[in-house]
Amino acid sequence: MTIRSVVVGLGHYLPQRVVPNSEFEATLDTSDEWIKSRSGIERRHFAAEGETTSDLATKAAQNALAQAGLTANDLDAIVLATSTADLTFPSAATMVQAALGMTRGFAFDVQAVCAGFIYALANANALIVSGQARRIMVIGAETFSRIMDWSDRSTCVLFGDGAGAVILEAQDGTGDKSDRGILSVDLNSDGQHRDILYVDGGVSTQTTGFLRMQGKEVFRHAVEKLAQTATQAMDKAGIASDEIDWIVPHQANIRIIQGTAKKLGLSMDHVVVTVQDHGNTSAASIPLALSVGAERGQISRGDVVVTEAIGGGLAWGAVVIRW
Ligand code: UT7
Repeated sequence: MTIRSVVVGLGHYLPQRVVPNSEFEATLDTSDEWIKSRSGIERRHFAAEGETTSDLATKAAQNALAQAGLTANDLDAIVLATSTADLTFPSAATMVQAALGMTRGFAFDVQAVCAGFIYALANANALIVSGQARRIMVIGAETFSRIMDWSDRSTCVLFGDGAGAVILEAQDGTGDKSDRGILSVDLNSDGQHRDILYVDGGVSTQTTGFLRMQGKEVFRHAVEKLAQTATQAMDKAGIASDEIDWIVPHQANIRIIQGTAKKLGLSMDHVVVTVQDHGNTSAASIPLALSVGAERGQISRGDVVVTEAIGGGLAWGAVVIRW
């Protein structure tokens, strides 16, 4: 018998304020046309003043619990992926634990920037298959609007705020690829590429800092590494590309999403795309896309879903899940 981590609940939350591309035209030398054609982004949500990452995460988690018909104390753990936690400590995950009224189990944050949700899923899956937890809330939540340099047109038009949550539950499987649940995980990082995507501040430097990115360089790495990690995860699961129902990629740029799908030999009919509405929400982008995709009726029980992401580090990875 094999223990599998099966998705039993999904939820998301987006802040109320929607910012269309045209809003940037007043303060920056940019245009709706440039942003749309270079990135596929049309609008994004920004958190209200005082609205924090754990606030967004709590609402996404509450929506996932409601959808699954569970309460907070039915969970054994919360694993929260973020690079924009409310405070240096405690973790945003423990803040969500308190806000949900969860009085048992454990909670912690994972920081792998835009690949954070993939790393969080991998951690949660390891806890489940090793028998340390039976039900885990995995959240990706970010307020990247807080680390934007609003005078840098090459970055500030690309990012947004939001949160998504997935509940994983231990279920018995056969060890075969026909099992529901997480079938494989592939994780990678290469710290040599630090300077192409980073925040130029942090606790140890006593500043908050702003996101800095060499977009073209990141783009070049992204298409190559995302296709590579997705292929490695598929090989580990014994899944061929014609068995994939959905790719749910990190939503950074429509051209990266299209390029990766092409390398994997899949048409865009098999890709969940939300970048036009959310922008790049870093670790929140995949759970947001999973939740929105399921709401649209794109993902259904039994489907093979490949998720993949890359971000600062560089850190990248992929997870294959049978829904
Ligand atoms: O989630 C983490 C991973 N991040 C990513 O995956 C992002 C990866 N990179 C990208 O998505 C793309 O590289 C960008 C969308 C950031 C940029 O697209 P690009 O096609 O690589 O454009 P570029 O950086 O080569 O810039 C082309 C031109 C430049 O002008 P010059 O030097 O050709 O005169 C930029 O200054 O576009 C200019 N530019 C802009 N123009 C209008 C840069 N930003 C803007 C802007 N509006 N907002």
